[in-house]
Amino acid sequence: MPLPDITKTFNPYFHLTHEHLGRIVSQFRTEFEDGLTHYGKDTAMVPSFVTGVPDGSEKGTFLALDLGGTNLRVCEVTLQGGHKFDIKQQKYKVSDELKKGAARVLFDYIAESVDAFLTDIGSGIANEHEPMHLGFTFSFPVEQTAIDAGKVLTWTKGFAATGAIGNDVVKLLQDSLDRKHIHVKCSALVNDTVGTLLSRSYQSGPALIGAIFGTGTNGAYIDRTRTIQKLGEEKIAGAEALGDHAGKFMVVNTEWGAMDNGRKVLPISIFDNKLDRESINPRKQAFEKLVSGMYLGEISRNILLHLIDSSLLFNGHSTTVLNTHYGYDAAFVSGIEGAESTDAARKIIIQELGIAKEHVSDGCVELVQWACRVVADRACALAACAIVAVILHTGNDKVPEGEKDTGVDVGLDGSVCEFLPHFDDRVRKTLKVLLGEEGEKRVRMGLAKDGSGVGAALCALQAKKAIEASRVKGAKAAPGKSPTTGQTGSHPTSHPAPPK
Ligand code: BGC
Repeated sequence: MPLPDITKTFNPYFHLTHEHLGRIVSQFRTEFEDGLTHYGKDTAMVPSFVTGVPDGSEKGTFLALDLGGTNLRVCEVTLQGGHKFDIKQQKYKVSDELKKGAARVLFDYIAESVDAFLTDIGSGIANEHEPMHLGFTFSFPVEQTAIDAGKVLTWTKGFAATGAIGNDVVKLLQDSLDRKHIHVKCSALVNDTVGTLLSRSYQSGPALIGAIFGTGTNGAYIDRTRTIQKLGEEKIAGAEALGDHAGKFMVVNTEWGAMDNGRKVLPISIFDNKLDRESINPRKQAFEKLVSGMYLGEISRNILLHLIDSSLLFNGHSTTVLNTHYGYDAAFVSGIEGAESTDAARKIIIQELGIAKEHVSDGCVELVQWACRVVADRACALAACAIVAVILHTGNDKVPEGEKDTGVDVGLDGSVCEFLPHFDDRVRKTLKVLLGEEGEKRVRMGLAKDGSGVGAALCALQAKKAIEASRVKGAKAAPGKSPTTGQTGSHPTSHPAPPK
């Protein structure tokens, strides 16, 4: 059955031409460069103070805390060496009240969850003399000033707790832990993308990019420290002086979810505008709102409502689910996309949306499938643009003469890459358009599950080593500056896949 003509009107917002994709990549690159040079940009290009990637031999047991996805996760991660790890974890629900209440209450809840985890699940490795080291994966924009310090820049993904913006997130957590006498030291602050990059490298060799396509979206990559000009000459030179490879490279958290907040190139349709103006952060996270799991259901809901209001769908009937803001989520889009027959898709529509059977004709099913398909296709094409922009920015689209081609490795995590049918193939389709057939083949993408946990543990390990090293040094000489408050320089354990 042909789709109604109205669908054609929306094609330019969802089927992106080669030329349009190219403009999006260029905008990314401009914003990357801008963010590396100046503080306060939307695409914040946050220096992570992680100056290398692990080689898989690291060992030790650490606590990891992960805030920023659907749930709060507390984990005990045992790095076993040999690229292996073991993880015990517990999820704790973060209610809307906590997300939007006072930050102090939210952080007290997090500390209580750590306490509950240690009592119920932890293996009791904490001892009374030595606090247990914790890596905190805090997946929101932060202006990081050291491996264990960073100020919250803004909330995303439905969080809006008061009293956090502008404050040091490690201090907020440590104060709550201390108030409750929990013998844990938050020694590293990590974004989930940085964690994913480290975890991928730990598990399967050096990666260039760690990307999250989940509730939110973002990417981290390895750049030359010297390229992060906003750090200033003193910090750059300090980092570079740390050794052969140590310090020459640094993981940068791009915060690409905010790319093109100025709306110069992104294909923003009326459905996206409605979503944005009704969101708790209008005019922010422009890229994220077209790509990430939190929004894919809602964009498709806006499309379906428009078709219903145009009397083209379900005989003009709607339901409570369809009429409710965020009435369903991306799982519906994935379900429809994965349905193997018209009847299977019809069943999902009836069950999930509550539409009466007699209003769901074959044509209606096709229209719902179209809506879900275009939203998902666009998300995947845009995801590819972000990856390509990093590859071009770092010069990894070419192999320098005389060097062996090791390709480009990308670690991925998040519900969209895990559950959206054919995510990988769809992303690759756009990689091929932008990088050519040969270029696309050089890109390896793989899920780095548990990136937030393993990455945080790896950072906690390095922070712990730095603290111990400073103690030894302190015992030998007069105490100097605490290495955990500046660049410790002890992160790299292997040579990262360097920018070319
Ligand atoms: C946050 C990022 C995070 C991403 C994925 C975004 O909303 O700003 O810091 O990495 O979500 O979780």
